[in-house]
Amino acid sequence: MLYNLTYRSIAIPEITYEQIEDILKTARNFNSKNDISGCLVFNKGYFIQLLEGSKATIKELMDSIERD
Ligand SMILES: Cc1cc2nc3c(=O)[nH]c(=O)nc-3n(C[C@H](O)[C@H](O)[C@H](O)COP(=O)(O)O)c2cc1C
Repeated sequence: MLYNLTYRSIAIPEITYEQIEDILKTARNFNSKNDISGCLVFNKGYFIQLLEGSKATIKELMDSIERD
């Protein structure tokens, strides 16, 4: 069964466009190889992300995003 997770997080104020592009590149690469789909939105200093895939993979990924 697919597991869904949606969260909102506050970016550091000094985040750059290049850093956001790096996150997207990493996410597209890792997520497609691990059957994770979703959507990453950045607006006015906030990220909103939807993730869908296996529960174990999403939980591991979320640990890594939280550390980031
Ligand atoms: C808001 C945000 C969303 C992220 N989303 C993903 C994602 O969907 N998939 C992914 O692989 N990495 C994502 N990352 C990057 C991970 O946090 C992490 O840097 C990456 O998985 C590499 O981890 P590692 O250095 O421990 O190997 C995101 C980072 C941030 C700040």
